[in-house]
Amino acid sequence: MEVTVSRKAHFNAAHRLFNKNWSDEKNESVFGKCNNSNYHGHNYEMIVSVTGKINPETGYVIDMGVLKKFIKDEIEERLDHKNLNLDIEYFADIIPSAENICIYIHTLLRNKISSELDISVTLYETPRNFVKYPSN
Ligand code: NI
Repeated sequence: MEVTVSRKAHFNAAHRLFNKNWSDEKNESVFGKCNNSNYHGHNYEMIVSVTGKINPETGYVIDMGVLKKFIKDEIEERLDHKNLNLDIEYFADIIPSAENICIYIHTLLRNKISSELDISVTLYETPRNFVKYPSN
């Protein structure tokens, strides 16, 4: 029997949506305000869900203290109060859209959490706009 356990976390970060292969006009036309050359910030909220079998010795799918530390060390310490375009190497050639940030967070946690457990990340860029990876 599998169970999903989840933890919420948040970080603040700045970004700009910009495709360097496009003209300024096309960037402005496609991304609008999100293309602002002086960047803009979001209060990102995320829900990390871990699904797997309960370990009969602990009663846990994953120790929440361990999950909390992975999120703090791998996500919050790395992304909080950063400019995603300028400070995070991963986004040198990848547009830091909510979709791509969500995949990045998933990748960072995937490296830390046992492959026997499934991970899902839901990332809120605003209270009303959110993305989820994997999609199903
Ligand atoms: Ni934005």
